[in-house]
Amino acid sequence: MKVLVIGGGGREHALVWALSASPLVERVYCAPGNAGIAALATCIALDLKDTERVLALIRSEHIDFVVIGPEAPLVMGLADKLAEKGIKVFGPSARAAQLEGSKGFMKDLCARHDIPTAAYGRFHDRSAALAYLDCQDLPIVIKADGLAAGKGVVIAASRAEAVQAVEDCFDGRFGSAGSEIVIEAFLDGEEASVFAISDGRHVLPFGTAQDHKRVGDGDLGPNTGGMGAISPAPAMTPALQDEVMARIIRPTVAAMAAEGCPFKGVLYAGIILTAEGPKLLEYNVRFGDPECQVLMLRLKSDLLPALIAAADGVLDTFDLRWRPGAAATVVLANRGYPGPLEPGGAIAGIAAAEAVDGVVVFHAATRRDGDRLVPAGGRVLNVTATGDTLGEAIDRAYQAVDRIVWPGGFCRRDIGARALAR
Ligand code: GLY
Repeated sequence: MKVLVIGGGGREHALVWALSASPLVERVYCAPGNAGIAALATCIALDLKDTERVLALIRSEHIDFVVIGPEAPLVMGLADKLAEKGIKVFGPSARAAQLEGSKGFMKDLCARHDIPTAAYGRFHDRSAALAYLDCQDLPIVIKADGLAAGKGVVIAASRAEAVQAVEDCFDGRFGSAGSEIVIEAFLDGEEASVFAISDGRHVLPFGTAQDHKRVGDGDLGPNTGGMGAISPAPAMTPALQDEVMARIIRPTVAAMAAEGCPFKGVLYAGIILTAEGPKLLEYNVRFGDPECQVLMLRLKSDLLPALIAAADGVLDTFDLRWRPGAAATVVLANRGYPGPLEPGGAIAGIAAAEAVDGVVVFHAATRRDGDRLVPAGGRVLNVTATGDTLGEAIDRAYQAVDRIVWPGGFCRRDIGARALAR
């Protein structure tokens, strides 16, 4: 089969890596891809908003199956447009992608179907939002309704901060994503990400992970897209995972089907383990980045048939095998990230890093400049390792990190440390 992966980050490198290992795959394409992905796939630079060009590529290369990595093309309806043309695709429709594309949609669905999540209000109007804030306890969470590249959530510790966050949204800080907001109660507990793939009716668990969102060691500094991840999520016992599937993920898939927008694709549930049990913080409608990287290293089964079974509606006949042990990924970022980037310079030593047992280096944002490999964004490399234990996976990942020669980069030195200390 010829498979096209849409996207060009570390998540898509991990997907291309897993798909290209499938005996069913003749050739993998990636649009736009990056310098690391180019070692495994034919990369085609194109604007993902230009559906006609995506369709032309699929036709000219006789692509059999498309996997959409990022949320933006899903929310914009790329999966619908491909499906309308009879192209087989893994990824939800635009209506189903509202689970991530509209925080208010997700909260209302949970409210209608009794899915455990924080109490909330949904507002189009500044004065109504500010009046609601007046009667809420602190801290409180303010969320821009739409996609805001991971920046649209503020946990406000004071009323002044909360008012500022509301004003920022309605003043256009997040563009149209902030023209509606959700205000919700702050929940306290350990966070974990739980993944499942769905064919619209059936659901298959797809592992757990824990991200490290803050830029600095000790969970300090500004939020990022994720500076590292471990899998499995340390707090997610099998019993808790079953509870999340039974009380949150399966009811969501059933609710979406009942409301006429069945969810086909991967559901990534941000879960918080509260004193009252697991509650849903948010849904994403795609694999996490860098959580996908650790999941792909742990997956023993062929990824492709699972994604096709989801697209074909036959996941009930399916099962997946996972490697025992654990995986960890450390993000190497360009100095300055998540703020303005400093000049990155050249990156070397990736082959030496991959010579460490169990290590794969996924590229998140790289490009070739002559014979030099250079950064092309904030999060640049994902140094990913498996091990019999989490400790071994982390040791291997950092051994590999230390073989990479890149003065313009930095990483957190404590990925997985809190889990090891439990
Ligand atoms: N790592 C967080 C995300 O993918 O949204």
